[in-house]
Amino acid sequence: MVSVQNLSLSLDDKPILKDISFELGNENNLIILGRSGSGKTVLSKTLMGFFPPQEGRVIIDNVDIYQDATSESDKSQFAIVFQNAALLDSLSVFQNVALPLYTRGEKDLEKAKEKVRQALFEVGLEDASEKFPAQLSGGMRKRVGIARALVYKPRYIVFDEPVSGLDPITADEVLYYINRIVESKTATTITITHDVRNLERVGDMVLFLEAGEALYYGSLDKLSQERTPLIRDFFGFDAP
Ligand SMILES: Nc1ncnc2c1ncn2[C@@H]1O[C@H](COP(=O)(O)OP(=O)(O)OP(=O)(O)O)[C@@H](O)[C@H]1O
Ligand SMILES: [Mg+2]
Repeated sequence: MVSVQNLSLSLDDKPILKDISFELGNENNLIILGRSGSGKTVLSKTLMGFFPPQEGRVIIDNVDIYQDATSESDKSQFAIVFQNAALLDSLSVFQNVALPLYTRGEKDLEKAKEKVRQALFEVGLEDASEKFPAQLSGGMRKRVGIARALVYKPRYIVFDEPVSGLDPITADEVLYYINRIVESKTATTITITHDVRNLERVGDMVLFLEAGEALYYGSLDKLSQERTPLIRDFFGFDAP
């Protein structure tokens, strides 16, 4: 369970997040919407322990990650699939996916190999492990990014714009694997997206940010009843 309470954050003295509160149960999956620059990525990084807020609290599984976390692993419960996949070009797919295991101190090589194989299997890339990032399509790179998040079985995953820049068919393929994680409750997920046509595939709760403020927090179902002009504009006229 993630509980964000009256969170305010400034970076370089500039207010970025303003009095944000929400609760995300483990059975729910959150979608963060909002214009470019509204604070979506900064919020997700704050949940990951990167930015200590000036006010408010981030409580994950009953641990206030900025006040009470005693270890790095207490603090960073989230895995993130970055906006640009962020693969290391000189490492193979296998090595890229294995990286979080090494940084977390996994010593057992056989166990590590099995975890990497399993994570690649979960995104349909079991045959690509010897390839290098330059040999992959955009969709495959995103899926390697997802495997790298899955490999240590995190309880929480952030997908930051997982389908931006992909053609609709490739986007659909990536969404297929995210939807499997969402449906199977493998992890509680937070998906940042501009792809308003596929929201129900990635989550059931919505946080809509505008200039660092929460304009809406509630179910995806009820979002269509919102009359706020900005939210209606965001969807064109056909809210989900
Ligand atoms: N490390 C940082 N230091 C200072 N300011 C930052 C930092 N990262 C982001 N910002 C600022 O915070 C604001 C919100 O940025 P953020 O990246 O969260 O937007 P976003 O909603 O994710 O946008 P996009 O949809 O374009 O990815 C922007 O004004 C940005 O310039
Ligand atoms: Mg962003």
